[in-house]
Amino acid sequence: MTGAKDTPSSLVADWNTLHRVFIRPEDEKSRNTLVKYMEQILFGLHDFLNNHVGVTEEISLIRLAEEYTDTKINAEPLKKLADVIKDIIEEIAPRAVNVASPYFIGHMTSAIPFFMVHLKAITAALNQNVIKLETSKVLSILEKQILAKIHRMIFNFQESFYLEHVQNTDTSLGVFTSGGTTANLTALWVARNHCFQPRGDFESIEKNGFHAAMKAHDLERLVILVSKRGHYSLRKAAGILGLGNQNVIPIDVDAKRSIDLKKLKAKIKYLTADKKTKIMAVVGIAGATETGVIDPLSKLADICEQHNIHFHVDAAWGGPVLLSEKYSKLLKGIERADSVTIDCHKQFYMPMSSGMVYFKDPKALDTIVYHARYVIRPGSVDLGIKTLEGSREANSLILDSALKIMGSKGYALMIEHGIETAKLFAKKIKKRPLFQLITKPQLNILTYRLVPLDIQKKLGTVDLKERQELDAELDEINIKIQRIQREAGKSFVSRTRLRNLPDDPHNVVVLRSVMMNPMTNGHILDEILDEQEAILQSLSEP
Ligand SMILES: Cc1ncc(COP(=O)(O)O)c(C=O)c1O
Repeated sequence: MTGAKDTPSSLVADWNTLHRVFIRPEDEKSRNTLVKYMEQILFGLHDFLNNHVGVTEEISLIRLAEEYTDTKINAEPLKKLADVIKDIIEEIAPRAVNVASPYFIGHMTSAIPFFMVHLKAITAALNQNVIKLETSKVLSILEKQILAKIHRMIFNFQESFYLEHVQNTDTSLGVFTSGGTTANLTALWVARNHCFQPRGDFESIEKNGFHAAMKAHDLERLVILVSKRGHYSLRKAAGILGLGNQNVIPIDVDAKRSIDLKKLKAKIKYLTADKKTKIMAVVGIAGATETGVIDPLSKLADICEQHNIHFHVDAAWGGPVLLSEKYSKLLKGIERADSVTIDCHKQFYMPMSSGMVYFKDPKALDTIVYHARYVIRPGSVDLGIKTLEGSREANSLILDSALKIMGSKGYALMIEHGIETAKLFAKKIKKRPLFQLITKPQLNILTYRLVPLDIQKKLGTVDLKERQELDAELDEINIKIQRIQREAGKSFVSRTRLRNLPDDPHNVVVLRSVMMNPMTNGHILDEILDEQEAILQSLSEP
C-alpha cells in the first residue's frame, strides 16, 4: 500500500507527537474526529457487516496480493489515526470476509452480538495482563469466578465445592487459553504428566524429559485414542508433547458417525496386552468439527473408568449447548470427564480469540506449574503459574459481561436456533431431487452434496468400483460448485471429505454448513440451495 514517499511533510515522529498518541487528542477538534470514527467502528462497521449481504468483495487473491508488496517500514508517520481508521473502513473491511452475513454458513466463525465489540474495546483500554496479580488485580479474581461458573455448568458439583474453590489460590478449576488448540494441548499436557509418577531418580516428565520418563516407567509407546473425526489439534499436541502424532490413534466411526465403541474396546484390549504401551488419554468429541456429531460420552466415561485412562472431552464446539435445557442432554456424560475444552470464540459468540480448558480435579493443573523470579513467584497466586500462555488479555471480562447481558437463556435461544435451523436445512435438502444429505445434523452442522440426475440413476445399479468412479466425478462437480459460489461472494458453505456409505471406506467431497448466525432463516437457505442448483445447471451448459 502507500509507500514512504507519500509521507505528508506535516507528519513527523518526534516527542510532541509521541506525547499526543500516549495521552489523548490534543484539542477538541481532533477529539471529535476520533469520537466520530470510534462511532463508525462501534456501530458503522457492525451495520456494514450486517447489511452488506455479499460475503466478500469480488477481487482475486492474486490481485490483492499485488497490492501488498511494500516490505519497507516507513520511518516517518504516514497517516493520522483518523485517516488510518477511514482506510480500514473503506479499503480493508469490504475486502475482508463478511463472516457476519447470514449467508455465510460455512465455518465456525460467524456474527457476534454487537456488544462484543464494545467489550473487546474495553478490554483493550484496560489492557490488563492476567498472567499476574500485579498487572490485573480484580481481573484475576473475576477470572476465577467465571471459571467456577463454567466448571459448574459442566460438572455441577455441590455448592460447598464451589465455595471452597472459587477463590482458592491453591487450586484451579480451569484456565483461559488462546483457543481450542491450546486448550486441547493443555489438557493433554496435564494428562501426560499424570501418567508419570516419580520413580527412583526420576522425578517428573516435565523435569527429566520424555526419554527418562519412558525409561523409568519401562514404556516404549504412549498413545491417545480418538475417533477419526478428532480435530487435528490433537495431533499437534501429540507432536509437541513428544508422543509423535502417529500415536494419536484414529478409531473408526459407526453408522451414527460417532466413535465405534466396539472398535475402541478392541483397540484398548490390543494395546493394553502390550505392557510397553500406555494409553495416555481417550478423547471424546462433543461436536465434531466436520459433522457436529457427539460421541457417546457416558459410555466413553465407563471405558475410561474401567481402564483408569484420562478422559478428555473436546467440546470446543458443543460445550455451550449445556446452556440449553432442551439440548443439554445430548452431552450427557461430559460431567464425568477429567478435562474439557470449550472455545469462547465459537458458540459463546465471543470475538477472536479465546478458549478454555476445565479440570474435574482442582489440583490437576499442579503438574504444569512454572515459576519465574520476576513474576509468578513461588507462593504467589498469579494465574500464569498454571497456564501454557504467558501474557494474556482478560477475556474472562468479556465472557462474564456477555453472560450478564444474555443470561444462559439468551445463549440457549441462539444455540437452539442453530440446531433447529440445521434441521430445517436438512429437510429442504432432502426435498430437492438434486441433493443428497450425507450427515444429518445432531447439533447445528450438516453435510450434503449435489448429484445430477443421470449420475443418480447410475449410482443405483453399479458395483463398488464403478461407484467410486462416479463419486470421483461427483467430487469434481461439488468442488467446482463450492468454489464458484464462494468466488461469486453472495453466500458461502465450506467443503470437506467424508465417508458416504457405512460399507465404503472411500471418502467423498461434501459441502458442509454450520448454522450459528441467528439471522439465517429458511428463506436464505432456499436462496443458497437455488444458487447451487443454478451453478450445477451452468456446469452442464456447453
Ligand atoms: C472440535 C474442535 N476442537 C478444537 C478446535 C481448535 O480450536 P481453535 O481453532 O480455536 O484452536 C476446533 C476448531 O475448529 C474444533 O472444532
